[in-house]
Amino acid sequence: MTDSRVQNCIVFLDSGAGGLPYLSAYSALNPKPLLLYVADKKNFPYGEKTKSELVSLLIELVGRIKKHFSPALITLACNTASVSALAELREYFPGTDFVGTVPAVKPALLYSKKKHIAVLGTERTLEDGYIRRIADNTARDCTITRIMAAELVNFVEHDIDYSDKAARIAMVKKYIDMAREKGADALVLGCTHFLFLLDEFKEASAPDMPVFDSMNGVCGRIENMLSGKTVMTGKNLLFVTGEDDAGKQWETRAARFGLDIFKPRDWDYV
Ligand code: DGL
Repeated sequence: MTDSRVQNCIVFLDSGAGGLPYLSAYSALNPKPLLLYVADKKNFPYGEKTKSELVSLLIELVGRIKKHFSPALITLACNTASVSALAELREYFPGTDFVGTVPAVKPALLYSKKKHIAVLGTERTLEDGYIRRIADNTARDCTITRIMAAELVNFVEHDIDYSDKAARIAMVKKYIDMAREKGADALVLGCTHFLFLLDEFKEASAPDMPVFDSMNGVCGRIENMLSGKTVMTGKNLLFVTGEDDAGKQWETRAARFGLDIFKPRDWDYV
């Protein structure tokens, strides 16, 4: 059943907290539209699922989101979901506009003097053919060092709020050192969760290893795709799947990102 409180909103969707910096950056660019953040806690983490598992769970979730909210646009604020299922979602829901989030491989390769970049992401994102395809279309004979960082995803999802700066720097430095040891001269943050650590990444990788992410590209794309559309305005909202109670940590996040916790009517939580 459609929920008249939230229609024609812009949805940001991730397995957890990862898309929140994207929502925040878009809200700074255009504060008008009502943004609905959907944290698919029920299915976290996406990075350890197979492509076909992700395609079916995302088709199910997007189907429900469409039914309840008739969104003006859906942003997959998740690299894992985008490389695994964006094409399938577009095919399954031909009338719906989607914006995907993919690792910023192209700008990093265009910058890299050694034509050797490191991409940090989930296992699923890194095993997908997407990165190689973009790399081959951008630079000949380039080297891509793939660094799987599920530990970092879990750190951001569960522990970051209880960590101090020294712990966060130590956490990211480990991955920057791996990229340096392999000989890369640019680092791509290929998972939205890592944007929570952007300052730490920049601090620990300077001056020889610039960090690339897709946040500005995604925000610009949303803005272009929205032109001429009718959108609802109002306070931004957070919906956490999985349980009726979002939990304390999500209350803290909602407050930090200026979101009201929202429970759709008639949503089957479990
Ligand atoms: N935030 C997601 C991404 O950008 C992945 C996190 C997960 O494994 O669920 O890839």
